[in-house]
Amino acid sequence: MTYSDDPNSPLNFFTSSTMATFLKKPLKLALVQLASGADKTVNLSHARSKVLEAAKAGARLIVLPECFNSPYGTGFFPKYAETLNPSPPTQEQSPSFHALSAIAAEANAYLVGGSIPELETSTKKYYNTSLVFSPTGELIGTHRKTHLFDIDIPGKIQFKESDVLTPGDQLTVIDLPEYGKIGLAICYDIRFPEAAMIAARKGAFLLVYPGAFNTTTGPLHWSLLGRARAVDNQAYVALCSPARDVEASYHAYGHSLIVDPSAKVLTEAEEQETIVYSDLDNDTIASIRSGIPIYTQRRFDLYPDVSAEMSNVKTGNKRSAIADVVSREYTINLHKRCHGVSFKKRAPKAIKEIRAFAEQAMGTKDVRVDPQLNKKVWEAGIKGVPFRLRVRISRKRNDEENAKERLYSHVQAVNVKDPKGLHTTTVDDA
Ligand SMILES: *[C@@H]1O[C@H](CO)[C@@H](O)[C@H](O)[C@H]1NC(C)=O
Ligand SMILES: *[C@@H]1O[C@H](CO)[C@@H](O)[C@H](O)[C@H]1NC(C)=O
Ligand SMILES: *[C@@H]1O[C@H](CO)[C@@H](O)[C@H](O)[C@H]1NC(C)=O
Ligand SMILES: *[C@@H]1O[C@H](CO)[C@@H](O)[C@H](O)[C@H]1NC(C)=O
Repeated sequence: MTYSDDPNSPLNFFTSSTMATFLKKPLKLALVQLASGADKTVNLSHARSKVLEAAKAGARLIVLPECFNSPYGTGFFPKYAETLNPSPPTQEQSPSFHALSAIAAEANAYLVGGSIPELETSTKKYYNTSLVFSPTGELIGTHRKTHLFDIDIPGKIQFKESDVLTPGDQLTVIDLPEYGKIGLAICYDIRFPEAAMIAARKGAFLLVYPGAFNTTTGPLHWSLLGRARAVDNQAYVALCSPARDVEASYHAYGHSLIVDPSAKVLTEAEEQETIVYSDLDNDTIASIRSGIPIYTQRRFDLYPDVSAEMSNVKTGNKRSAIADVVSREYTINLHKRCHGVSFKKRAPKAIKEIRAFAEQAMGTKDVRVDPQLNKKVWEAGIKGVPFRLRVRISRKRNDEENAKERLYSHVQAVNVKDPKGLHTTTVDDA
């Protein structure tokens, strides 16, 4: 049988995402596995020299580790915390903001500024926050760590970030205009695959995690998690750790690494301070995704698309279109059920189902159907069953005055020569 024989629905939907371009041009990525200690000024100037070294070697995207300018440990957060809002902060409020902005501009590279402890003065809450700057030194994104590290492995590790920190409430996808999108999350966030999946389905070519695993969890999980997120999403993954400092109270694992979209580790540091590099390119992503086509074989009729409800994705400090606007293509299998209905009623019934689907899949109430789609369904949709129709559903921002809904979905038919040739998953009876 095929799963399209769902007796309750006249239609079934087989999805593939449309992500024409992942990475617009080749990119050299550098991870700076920095040693850092108690003096912020010294650490900032040291970070500068390492970032400039990476830029000189040709890196156009450079990543610093988690807590690169402060010791790691909840006890240090209040002392080291900086204030970032309202943005831009003053020099006194956030020396790291200004240093990172200047370093990015000097290096003429995109810079993911690891993470710093942030204090939101209005609420007196602390966050673990990553700042991203463009090659002109402009802030293009921020991420507040969303999953706090509260862990208790008896006899091994006890650590409670939530004693001091507050979790961020948004996922982060940042557009690097010359290259494409990256997903950004911090350390422990990597253990939650949903966030990575959402960023990848939004078109991210790379998932970046400044992190600081220690020598208990590092050997067991660090590389595994990096490779897991890569193989799940067929995207590049970068994990950037501080160097290990055996004098410090927290012993970072080190081992900063870059994984390719097939889950191969391209480069991996050891414990000491170093910079690791990899060249990323679009063809690698494209060939891995076409070889193992998981992007076109998802079964959102069986499980939800975690990227469908995107109200909490933030895309930098500007209001960006990514959170609101998204297009996906679906193969719609017009079901036998439509045949039980009188011929006259079939097309309207199919259109109604498509509307309901668009509403559910895209999280919109206002669904507008392109007249061409209507025409196509009338013409062909329910003559031969099963008949597969290709549609593109775009969620768009509703800029009309007095609009009740902020977003609407626009459903179009996509021309394909032979819709019957489209891939549909078939499962044999056991
Ligand atoms: C990247 O690969 C995709 C998939 O093959 C392709 O559609 C796109 O045109 C490529 N982009 C560039 C810039 O090469
Ligand atoms: C700051 O970091 C540097 C390296 O980034 C480290 O060697 C040093 O110990 C730290 N500075 C101080 C004064 O602790
Ligand atoms: C952020 O969380 C990580 C734990 O994953 C911790 O190492 C770090 O100290 C925190 N950083 C800040 C600046 O709060
Ligand atoms: C791992 O981190 C915790 C919390 O900082 C610490 O108590 C523990 O000793 C660390 N383990 C090792 C092996 O460094």
